[in-house]
Amino acid sequence: MLEDIKEILITEEEIKNKLKELGEKITKDYRDKKDVLLVGVLKGAVLFIADLIRHIDLPVQVDFMAVSSYGASTESSGVVRILKDLDENIEGRNILIVEDIIDSGLTLSYLYNMLKSRKPASIKICALLDKPSRRKVKIKVDYLGFEIPDYFVVGYGLDYNEKYRNLPFIGILKEEAVKAAN
Ligand code: XMP
Ligand code: MG
Repeated sequence: MLEDIKEILITEEEIKNKLKELGEKITKDYRDKKDVLLVGVLKGAVLFIADLIRHIDLPVQVDFMAVSSYGASTESSGVVRILKDLDENIEGRNILIVEDIIDSGLTLSYLYNMLKSRKPASIKICALLDKPSRRKVKIKVDYLGFEIPDYFVVGYGLDYNEKYRNLPFIGILKEEAVKAAN
């Protein structure tokens, strides 16, 4: 699998350090809040949320949503379909959406507005990666891991055709691997 990677953009060590920093910040910010629910967006954010919550020193709860955006495989269309909704009611609760990457921002913008309409007490966004150069809609990211240039990245939960999620780092795929996966 390593032979498919052109370049490691963010190392395992860098991710580890960043999660500790983010977890400590979230712990501090939510210390006085009751009923904190982290909403992980499947499947990309699975590794991120699993590691992040170990650095949050509060009795938070976790739930998941699965969404899919229509359109080509590496482009978001803005039309989002809910494949799996939350198990729980979020009215009056403090919601922190945990997402792998913000690209155009269309997916998260849709999710944010949908969850906001369910009247939570507060709603914030935590994303591991951000590609600001590709943004189509404005989004306020409250907790961010890393800003990255406009590369299609894989690893640490992120996939190309459902593969490479299990790499422990964030990397850029070789052209040959992109062709082979198609
Ligand atoms: P938008 O454009 O709606 O897209 O912000 C966000 C979703 O698109 C996927 N995405 C990526 N997935 N490597 C990936 O594996 C990438 O570089 C990448 N860029 C966008 C991802 O599912 C994200 O939730
Ligand atoms: Mg995703």
